[in-house]
Amino acid sequence: EPETILAHVGRLLEHGGALGGKRVLVSAGPTREALDPVRFISNRSSGRMGVALAAASWRRGAQVTLVHGPLAVRGPVGAELVRVESTEEMRQAIADRLPDADVLVMAAAPADFRPSTVAENKIKKGNAVDSMELAPTPDILLSTRSARKPGSIAVGFALETTDLIANAQDKLARKGLDLVVLNDAREAGAGFDTKTNRVTLVGQNGQLTELPLMSKDDVADAILDRIEELASGR
Ligand code: CTP
Repeated sequence: EPETILAHVGRLLEHGGALGGKRVLVSAGPTREALDPVRFISNRSSGRMGVALAAASWRRGAQVTLVHGPLAVRGPVGAELVRVESTEEMRQAIADRLPDADVLVMAAAPADFRPSTVAENKIKKGNAVDSMELAPTPDILLSTRSARKPGSIAVGFALETTDLIANAQDKLARKGLDLVVLNDAREAGAGFDTKTNRVTLVGQNGQLTELPLMSKDDVADAILDRIEELASGR
């Protein structure tokens, strides 16, 4: 297919940077938390940002694994694809591959809550359900903190509506990250389920880089340029 040819040509032209030969682990898309055999809780994530990151990492010569929930877009050329359903499954898939990863980019939007109990059979609408009890799911990025390969680079995303920079910096410190990609959830054309994004890169030591509104493919390249800078300094 033309996009496969294009991706291979891209890899021939773009490899040779700091990501060449490195193992890059990316997550993308939402997860689904079952309520019964046919229903689930999820969110509007399309997976576009994570797919763009995986595709661009591969073009730059990396060995890429994409752990993903249901995607609304085609998977990237070149990456190993690992399909998961729930946040717990995504946590396990990431944990299994973490020891080898030189770069971890958590672009997924894992569901933060799951139904406390999963009904074995389909819940009939006759059985009026007037409330649903929820339990928290694991914070995957936080759980990787002490298990990452020494010297590796960890990148998270933050979708905020208030105190954007302060919240992103808090996430950076709490989850032990090198970089947080900050989205303003109130802004049109940015964040979930859009083709474009406007982000601020929040680095360590108060470093802030505001990027203009651009396609998610271009945002992916800007993030990877920063990751390559970080990687060549280690
Ligand atoms: N993330 C994760 N595991 C979860 C939820 C989120 O690893 N269960 C990751 C996302 O992939 C993203 C980052 O954590 O890289 C930020 O997620 P976000 O939902 O914005 O922040 P939280 O830390 O969950 O905090 P809050 O919802 O309170 O803002």
